[in-house]
Amino acid sequence: MKWQVEAITNILKNCIEHSEPNSNIKIHYEKNNMYSLIKIKDEGSGISPKDLPHIFERFYKASNSSSESIGIGLALTKSIIESNNGYITAESELGKGTTFIIKYFN
Ligand SMILES: Nc1ncnc2c1ncn2[C@@H]1O[C@H](COP(=O)(O)OP(=O)(O)O)[C@@H](O)[C@H]1O
Ligand SMILES: [Mg+2]
Repeated sequence: MKWQVEAITNILKNCIEHSEPNSNIKIHYEKNNMYSLIKIKDEGSGISPKDLPHIFERFYKASNSSSESIGIGLALTKSIIESNNGYITAESELGKGTTFIIKYFN
């Protein structure tokens, strides 16, 4: 449980880092008898279609990344979520924002 919180917190941290001050981050949660779904949506820079398929790879840095970026956060997040019977995907549009979709199957 502690690590799942870590994983979700890391996504939120990324969303904040890539958003302008005072923009919104929306969190949606729903649960049914098959899965729990968490969606985290920012209004930040977005991720280019070239980078998007790679953001969960270790040491991958997107073209929008800062100089301190290492590219480890989302890889760790993904492995933590998958170790708990979960899946994570991302959808993004440059200049509009990014949505992370996490599903835990019961
Ligand atoms: N919410 C987001 N909006 C835009 N770009 C993002 C977002 N989350 C991650 N990225 C990009 O995806 C890449 C991978 O992220 P991450 O694994 O967290 O790297 P780091 O550990 O360096 O923060 C980063 O280079 C970052 O620029
Ligand atoms: Mg990060």
